Amino acid sequence: MFLTACGSSPQDEGSEGAGNAEDTETKKTLRIVTDAAYAPMEYQDKGEVVGFDIDFIKAVAKEAGYEVNVEHVGWDPIFVEIESKRADLAVSSITINDDRKQSYDFSHPYFQSTNKILVPEGSDIKSAEDLKGKKVAVQNGTTGQAAMDALLGKNSPDIKKFEDNNLAIMEMESGGAAAVVADNMVVEEYAKNNPDKNLTVIEDSAFDSEFYGVLFPKGSELVGEFNDAINAVLENGTYTEIYKKWFGNEPNIDVLKEQQ
Ligand code: ARG
Repeated sequence: MFLTACGSSPQDEGSEGAGNAEDTETKKTLRIVTDAAYAPMEYQDKGEVVGFDIDFIKAVAKEAGYEVNVEHVGWDPIFVEIESKRADLAVSSITINDDRKQSYDFSHPYFQSTNKILVPEGSDIKSAEDLKGKKVAVQNGTTGQAAMDALLGKNSPDIKKFEDNNLAIMEMESGGAAAVVADNMVVEEYAKNNPDKNLTVIEDSAFDSEFYGVLFPKGSELVGEFNDAINAVLENGTYTEIYKKWFGNEPNIDVLKEQQ
């Protein structure tokens, strides 16, 4: 708590006394939480939280006039931090869905995604249907888990749930699961970056198209400002630049704008 208070509003100790009058000068430093175990979207590199989402939210916050402090807290804690308003917002490849909308607010969609299946090369799993009767590793509380609940049955002992996605992948690699189901960018990047592990990614139209949003406490006054800033970075080329840096190709901005 001390660190939080300390890190989030250095201006409070500012020297100007009456400086709080000017809105533009007194915007506070926002506390942003994430689960930095989801490369290339958010992960830790030499103790620093980096990734597409991190570059994105920094650009958006800058556009909106805020300083930020990005903190890795883990997946489940994100929702606790936001619900209790201890954090101002979260960015963590969080899919916008009706369930979450009941308890949180989301920004405009900023990224399109879908679940895919990661398997060892030569696996007899070729589709989502083939997962039936197999052990599948997922990150607890994600849309990957929800997809497996729907396919294999809620509470099926075949669904192995992990606190973070890297642990789910490790479970498959050690033979405890036949597949991992998670967001396409993440499983594709993992298979590509680990050629020695001989992994294959399978897509299946059974998995929904999803959109990520920035997560806020319900009723947060930041939502409108951030939506405007998101539109600005989508339109002024900043989003495209960040997207190309991480994925090497052009984003489809129209598909994002159509969702607004
Ligand atoms: N998009 C999925 C969801 O919202 C998975 C996100 C997991 N994010 C992470 N940083 N581990 O459920």
